[in-house]
Amino acid sequence: MADTAFTPRVFSGIQPSGGLTLGNYLGALKRFVDMQDAGTHECVYCIVDLHAITVWQDPKALTAQIREAAAAFIAAGIDPSRSILFNQSQVAEHAQLAWIFNCVARMGWMRRMTQWKEKAGKHSEEASLGLFAYPALMAADILAYHATHVPVGEDQKQHLELTRDIAAKFNHDFGEEFFPITEPVIGGPAARVMSLRDGTKKMSKSDPSDMSRINLRDDADLIAQKFRKARTDPEPLPGTYEELKDRPEARNLVDIYAAMAGIEPDAVMAEHGGAGWGQFKPQLAELAVETMGPITGEMNRLMDDPAEIDRILSGGADRAREIAAPILSRTYDIVGLVSK
Ligand code: TYM
Repeated sequence: MADTAFTPRVFSGIQPSGGLTLGNYLGALKRFVDMQDAGTHECVYCIVDLHAITVWQDPKALTAQIREAAAAFIAAGIDPSRSILFNQSQVAEHAQLAWIFNCVARMGWMRRMTQWKEKAGKHSEEASLGLFAYPALMAADILAYHATHVPVGEDQKQHLELTRDIAAKFNHDFGEEFFPITEPVIGGPAARVMSLRDGTKKMSKSDPSDMSRINLRDDADLIAQKFRKARTDPEPLPGTYEELKDRPEARNLVDIYAAMAGIEPDAVMAEHGGAGWGQFKPQLAELAVETMGPITGEMNRLMDDPAEIDRILSGGADRAREIAAPILSRTYDIVGLVSK
């Protein structure tokens, strides 16, 4: 467990690099709301716009996407008076601490990151320096708040291990247990929601096929159509979850059902075992529409008033800065910089 000397605090972030997906909702947002509602941790949630610009973003679209992401957080149940909700670029401490961590992290650590390898691919010479340093900024996001717990989907696991390595190296180099060794909070049936077209790929906002994902702003008809066309095998659902081991597309739909219903995948099998896809898919679509419909409606309502969203983000940024500024200032002292 994380060092108990630190206040129990949750930090997590979502990139505003396009519309959010059902994967973001089930793997992250819904769990952010659960952690807020549990009331055991102070919760800090961030729209990580500085991470988004590590790849090209059209400026006008980016502004709209930041507001849309904020609307998604609130519509999903994040209460900006209980949790801190803001966008990263408004709190300069993230970029400032990231610089210190750029000097702590090693090139080799960054080069090993799967996301770097996937995103930069064969064109790493053309990739931005920001994309390479991305995980150091992510460590700064988390450690600027001395966060002890970070809820994320499975794909972020390696970045969180790097965050622990950066904290440990900093603490070791400067001889002080200043940064917590953060615990990732990953789990449940939605830790890795897969594409609806290919059960071996994760559902992603950057997939070229829109049919591969459910977007938070899809309407009921489109959601039903996407589940109807979701790729599956011809076999009906078996009696136990275990039997889905080698059926990735089928397992994904069961996992999505379980996560939305808030039940274990075994309970889905107990109820739907033996059903064919013609029976199960419409029930899955119905559950998705019931779950997502109110969130989409609320998002659309909130986005009609961008000034109100901006006000919420700015208020959240002020509260975030109150926590991050003294931690950054203490970091500067530890490093030996002369700060005010
Ligand atoms: P991002 O913006 O890609 O995704 C946001 C969150 O959604 C989760 N997620 C998924 N979970 C399950 N199934 C999926 N198909 C799926 N797709 C996305 C992600 O795991 C993530 O939790 N680097 C991060 C953003 C970040 C961050 C942070 C997160 C920046 N700083 C500090 C935590 C703490 C990212 O790109 O997430």
